[in-house]
Amino acid sequence: MAMAANETDPAQRPPAIEIRRLTKDYPLPGGRQRVRAVDDLSLRVHPGQIYGLLGPNGSGKSTTLKALLGLLRPTLGECLLAGVPGSDPAAHRAIGYLPEAPYFPRFLSGRELLRFHAKLAGVPRAGREERIAALLGRVGLAHAADRRVGSYSKGMLQRVGLAQALVADPSILILDEPTAGVDPGGAADIAELILEQKARGRTVLLCSHLLTQIEEICDRVAILHRGRLLAEGALDDLLGRCGRQSLVVEHLPSEELAAFEDWLAERGGRLHAVERPAARLDRYFLETVERAEREGEASR
Ligand SMILES: Nc1ncnc2c1ncn2[C@@H]1O[C@H](COP(=O)(O)OP(=O)(O)OP(=O)(O)O)[C@@H](O)[C@H]1O
Ligand SMILES: [Mg+2]
Repeated sequence: MAMAANETDPAQRPPAIEIRRLTKDYPLPGGRQRVRAVDDLSLRVHPGQIYGLLGPNGSGKSTTLKALLGLLRPTLGECLLAGVPGSDPAAHRAIGYLPEAPYFPRFLSGRELLRFHAKLAGVPRAGREERIAALLGRVGLAHAADRRVGSYSKGMLQRVGLAQALVADPSILILDEPTAGVDPGGAADIAELILEQKARGRTVLLCSHLLTQIEEICDRVAILHRGRLLAEGALDDLLGRCGRQSLVVEHLPSEELAAFEDWLAERGGRLHAVERPAARLDRYFLETVERAEREGEASR
């Protein structure tokens, strides 16, 4: 049977997330004055996209996510998750959420915590324990699965929070700084995990200050500033990198550069910029740590 056009093209399907003219004011102590945390914000995230919400501290990112989930009542505007108002409990079945500052009962182990959330979310008993064990392994906590969450480090709490968000296999994931406090190796694992979710057709909306990572994984981003939308779009468009490639060249004498430029021009290309490749500290760090780990394995 032929599929309708709107089933094949994700941009034609109803948005997974839609924020319509959201404004949120918080009362200040005393009740007279208010702070406008989000100011007339509209956004759409299409199914299967990874969408990054960026902005300086206090720009309204977490407030937007909380309003989207119905945890805060908007002052104006509305938020829809898969077409259902975020305040409707029915919307929550499809959602996994990692809050900015997750709070977990300290006396539960990581495994018990996931079991609790899996039951709350109605994950069927058959296969539940296997799913929990696989998720704990996936976020690098297999070794600490039976330790109390109260004894977890900051990064370990973040990892168990992510596993909690994924436990019911949600179609929409909302992650408020998933890599905050996580070491670089863990952050790379989390980026990979987010990309896996996209490969499975899931939608991900995340906030982060790690712009290198955002650039690597997001399809679109929005930049907020004092609650207002400063910029929004596909990364390729915003960064003007459509149709560009970089070649990293070693040992080319500078007098050959003009000849190289001519050679490119003859083939329809244009030398856009000559710059020294940015030193990628994140890559250097990971390579150094991985090498030490490999050498450690080899000498064992
Ligand atoms: N519960 C609250 N009561 C009063 N004001 C609040 C409350 N929560 C947030 N705000 C204010 O709303 C604004 C936006 O805060 P929000 O937490 O949404 O920012 P953010 O973009 O997530 O920042 P960060 O990058 O630091 O996490 C800030 O001015 C903040 O002080
Ligand atoms: Mg925040």
